[in-house]
Amino acid sequence: MENNIDIQNLSDKLINQIEATKDLSSLEEIRVSALGKKGEVTALLKKMGSIPAEDRPAFGAMVNKLRAEIEEKLENKKKVLEDAEFSKKMENEKIDITMPSKKQVVGTKHPLTHVIDELKDIFIGMGYQIAEGPEIETCYNNFDALNAPKDHPSRDVQDTMYITNDIILRSQTSPVQVRTMLENNPPIKVICPGRVYRADDIDATHSPVFHQLEGLVIGEGITMAHLKGALSDFVKNYFGKDTKIKLRPHHFPFTEPSCEVDVSCFVCGGKGCKTCKGEGWIEILGAGMVHPNVLKAGGIDPEKYTGFAFGMGIERIAMIKYDLNDLRLLYENDTRFLKQF
Ligand code: DAH
Repeated sequence: MENNIDIQNLSDKLINQIEATKDLSSLEEIRVSALGKKGEVTALLKKMGSIPAEDRPAFGAMVNKLRAEIEEKLENKKKVLEDAEFSKKMENEKIDITMPSKKQVVGTKHPLTHVIDELKDIFIGMGYQIAEGPEIETCYNNFDALNAPKDHPSRDVQDTMYITNDIILRSQTSPVQVRTMLENNPPIKVICPGRVYRADDIDATHSPVFHQLEGLVIGEGITMAHLKGALSDFVKNYFGKDTKIKLRPHHFPFTEPSCEVDVSCFVCGGKGCKTCKGEGWIEILGAGMVHPNVLKAGGIDPEKYTGFAFGMGIERIAMIKYDLNDLRLLYENDTRFLKQF
């Protein structure tokens, strides 16, 4: 009889504990304290030996019933707690699809890349190929082969970035002329857009790193008239079909004769305005007939072949085209500026 009461008490106690449990880990603690090796229900089974033989079957049946009952209660409670946990998790992870989404910021092509791509398109359309050369260049290719004598001011450390006495960061794209001539036989018709370096402080119109586009055409019977025709076609394509060019005599060591080239202002058509500073004309590039010494340095016979070359600053072209008053805008990477292109 006494045993019956013990079992009933234990049963009540365990069921109360199970019902009061709020989480899976304390439920597990109850399971171990009841059904584990040292658990209270297990202890009852161990007591079997000390029960008088005639009471054993009834006692055993009661303990087994208790165990089954507790197992079932534990199992049910476990399910309830697991469901609750899952619902809670779902609730926490709920996505409010009416919330504004995160903006994906898509970049735009940099204005300089934009200009370079447009220039390439135009010249490719005119039959030019793209040539390339390294930004780290020999002094020889950058100066000597381009007929720039040892005492030329552009070779001064004030102007040029030296890596060693003989190696520099190229100060112009013109050395690609030499490389192209050495690697190809005429006819040659290339442009070379690329980055160049000068020992300049940065201000509204200067930067120690900027971009140029070089052009080189070599063949039999090439004259200044071809140069004029090519540049005239180019400016009409780029600035508009009514654009005219004007060639002014100038000096470059690698061309003879040399000129600077102006375009009629594409904003006012030549009458004079803010963009052309009242001049009606805007200077855009340097050009000329390739000097015989440069042809020789490129392994080309100047008696047989002639050619023309031209070079323009891409930042300058971008500033003219987009009416920018400060070159630094192109390097600050302010997205408010960049996304306008
Ligand atoms: N390399 C010259 C410079 O950096 C630009 C130039 C002028 C290139 C005349 C040419 C040219 O090919 O013929 O100022």
